[in-house]
Amino acid sequence: MFRATHSTATPVSPSPGCGPTTAHDQRDLRNALGKFATGVCVITTRGLDGKLEGLTANSFCSVSLDPPIVLWSLRKDAGSLPTFERASHFCINVLHAHQVEMSRHFCGRQINKFDGLADEFTEGLEGIPALKDALATFECEQLEHQPMGDHIVFYGMVKRYTYSQATPLTFHCGTYTTVRPLLD
Ligand SMILES: Cc1cc2nc3c(=O)[nH]c(=O)nc-3n(C[C@H](O)[C@H](O)[C@H](O)COP(=O)(O)O)c2cc1C
Repeated sequence: MFRATHSTATPVSPSPGCGPTTAHDQRDLRNALGKFATGVCVITTRGLDGKLEGLTANSFCSVSLDPPIVLWSLRKDAGSLPTFERASHFCINVLHAHQVEMSRHFCGRQINKFDGLADEFTEGLEGIPALKDALATFECEQLEHQPMGDHIVFYGMVKRYTYSQATPLTFHCGTYTTVRPLLD
């Protein structure tokens, strides 16, 4: 049973009785899910033919510290899916607040998203592209991928990582934002 309710602090929209089956229901569910602020990543890999692939994603999250396992999910109709499914490794490149353009670039559907960006990336494990100026990078060996609804969930074992002190780029309610410390 699927039921949407809204707290009194937010505008109320009609609650669908069961299942987000209509376009309106799905939009409303997306609005609710969008309340969860996330970081923004560009996830990259190298195909068996050497072609580089990458896309903007905010579905990344950590699963386990010991061993170090992360996951992210990719839409089944994504152009990069066949490459990621076959890839032995991928790299999670977490963006900082001055990388909105990088995020916009990698959520497009261009044939070769790495054209003109060679200087921005270095070669990581198994030749996967790792963003030089990232907030953090996690080079992962792909453990497995599983279909789940309209997405494929990828699991990776973190083999190498970097991080910096920059301010993160965040995504909230469909908009790029950033974080600020809360003052007591
Ligand atoms: C902030 C943001 C987060 C996104 N997160 C995801 C995600 O986690 N999974 C996904 O499949 N697409 C996500 N997308 C959409 C993809 O970036 C977009 O569909 C892209 O065109 C896919 O590239 P491809 O078709 O070359 O694979 C996100 C887009 C934005 C702007």
